[in-house]
Amino acid sequence: MTRPEIAALGGSSLVQHDLVVVGGGPAGYAAALTGAAAGLDVGLVEEHLLGGTCLHVGCIPAKELLETAAVLRTVREAPAFGVGIPGFDNIDPVLDLSASQVRKQKVIDGLERGVTALLAGRDVTVYEGTGRLGAAHVVSIDHFAGDPTLVVAEHVVLATGSSPRTIPGFDVDGTLVVTSDEFLSLSEAPQRVAVIGGGAIGCEFASMLADYGSSVTLLEAASEILSGCDSDVAKAVRRAFLKRGIEVHSGIAVHGHDPDSAGTTVRFGPTDDADVTELHVDLVVVAVGRRPRGDSAGLIGTRVAVDDRGFIEVDERLRTAEPGVYAVGDVVDTPQLAHVGFAEGMFVVRDMLGESPIPLDSTTVPWCIYSHPEVAFAGLTESGAIEAGYDVVVSSHRFAGNGRAMILGEIEGLVKVVAEKGLNGRAERILGVHLVGPWVTEQLGQGYLAVNWEATVDEVAAFIQPHPTLSELFGETMLSLAGRALHS
Ligand code: NAI
Repeated sequence: MTRPEIAALGGSSLVQHDLVVVGGGPAGYAAALTGAAAGLDVGLVEEHLLGGTCLHVGCIPAKELLETAAVLRTVREAPAFGVGIPGFDNIDPVLDLSASQVRKQKVIDGLERGVTALLAGRDVTVYEGTGRLGAAHVVSIDHFAGDPTLVVAEHVVLATGSSPRTIPGFDVDGTLVVTSDEFLSLSEAPQRVAVIGGGAIGCEFASMLADYGSSVTLLEAASEILSGCDSDVAKAVRRAFLKRGIEVHSGIAVHGHDPDSAGTTVRFGPTDDADVTELHVDLVVVAVGRRPRGDSAGLIGTRVAVDDRGFIEVDERLRTAEPGVYAVGDVVDTPQLAHVGFAEGMFVVRDMLGESPIPLDSTTVPWCIYSHPEVAFAGLTESGAIEAGYDVVVSSHRFAGNGRAMILGEIEGLVKVVAEKGLNGRAERILGVHLVGPWVTEQLGQGYLAVNWEATVDEVAAFIQPHPTLSELFGETMLSLAGRALHS
């Protein structure tokens, strides 16, 4: 709809904007901020809290609580560095999770104030309520009391996000069975816990709980945990988890659980109902993916389509079938990552402004998982590259030989690079960079650039890595692919 068409709709109660964004998570607020920076008059509708899942029940609280886990580890390992407390041979720190929750909330509050200030600073009108898109680009905002506000705009961005998936037999009660929503607010660590789902969330929570001193069992339906990762990376995490006492069962089915006065007994086994194993725990954490909230955006009287999984259907430019209406973030079938949401929010504004941005490539976005050890990657896995028809050359190097890793006392993990094999048999274009080990989430940058710049091994191997750093291992892997390995 154009401005004159909107004006023709008339009605004094119809508020006009150039752009209305439904959903104030990373994808939605990125669209709002980008639109406002470009001079658009923007309205943003949020039914809960600005910052969305990422800020309130996702990335930020999870990483905050994982930092508590890292501090616990550091303190426990202090004597090995000659650091102690007079009179004590060992340092046995205790965890006060409720104090950690207070710290977590302070971080969240600070960031939420930041988002609010940014939106206010760019004159974005923020509406509190549930926005539902109807015909003619009109969004009805239900404020939970009183009359709805009706807003209309030439462009609408749907960014209604996702919510945790649940599974039959494990009704979420917030006490015995929780999803990430409830888990991230626990004030006490459980003694025995079953984590169902060995994806990014399940592995982060299992790792965190092991550091907190819980006895952790990770139950994964697929044949290996972290199924989207390169298999060498997933195996390295599994090995590290086993060493840390996390029990990992993959290729299993969970059948249900039987609560009692002291907790609950989870039933699982290799196949349906056969060889059932019983596991008594205090808490079950369900981390089996997130369901897109396409159905929460109204959409009656529009051409916007939602598929049977709940995703809003879009083309590569994130346009829905309704002209002028886009969808971004977890509600579309692209990686459910906050940084992908940011990128999509910015992309659609550039698209509506006619700047013809290049569509985002889901296969090369950066991934970071903050378990211990951490995982980070961009681009194709070895098996993914082969499946895609590439002839590949692969090299892996372990942190065990890296000076900085030894200094940190964190020698577990590796760097693996997947490159396309040239006609002469040598490694050429870099297709994938896969890291597992210390601080790899902060090391991925150059790997991400290498993949997305479509750089060759020779080009990247020519660069110097500072010494002593963890990133020397990335350089060493490139050197070895270029046929000039220095330390191996
Ligand atoms: P996920 O899709 O990454 O993993 C879910 C896992 O649960 C899969 O491995 C699946 O095989 C398993 N599963 C499904 N049903 C099961 C069942 N009945 N029994 C046992 N296992 C079962 O989803 P996750 O970990 O919940 O994360 C949701 C989204 O959030 C993902 O897209 C993820 O990438 C994103 N995320 C990313 C993070 C990061 O990058 N650090 C952190 C947290 C989430």
